[in-house]
Amino acid sequence: ATNRTFTMIKPDAVANGHIGAILDQITKAGFKIIALKYTSLSTQKAGEFYAVHSERGFFNDLVGFMTSGPIVAAILEKDNAVADFRKLIGATDPAKAEEGTIRQRFAKSIEANAVHGSDSDENAEIEGNFFFSAFERF
Ligand code: CMP
Repeated sequence: ATNRTFTMIKPDAVANGHIGAILDQITKAGFKIIALKYTSLSTQKAGEFYAVHSERGFFNDLVGFMTSGPIVAAILEKDNAVADFRKLIGATDPAKAEEGTIRQRFAKSIEANAVHGSDSDENAEIEGNFFFSAFERF
């Protein structure tokens, strides 16, 4: 599904009260919500989700951060969803994110960077399937 992407609102943005503002910015940018869930990641689940980063120096910190509180997971639909969503959220490091992007507005650090966005169509599919069954998509 090349017109879909997957996102999480990370524990920092949830704790800071930004769920509503972030979903508002996402939907106003033309993304349709296909699936939506307020949940949390166990250490095992976070390790699985970020397995591609398991050899990186920041992996343990990342897993600790991602399990520190609830998250919001969503599948989003729009033409050119993966690329357009990455543009909307801005650079991984909020200090480098363009003005008006979600990370520039709501993120505090390269780790606590408010939102996740899939980096490819293939990963969008894998990550959406990680959180949602067929019955949870509309
Ligand atoms: P994201 O791109 O969604 O997925 C990988 C995450 O690793 C990234 O967001 C950050 O939350 C986290 N991270 C922590 N430190 C770093 C770093 N130095 N470089 C890249 N990502 C980092």
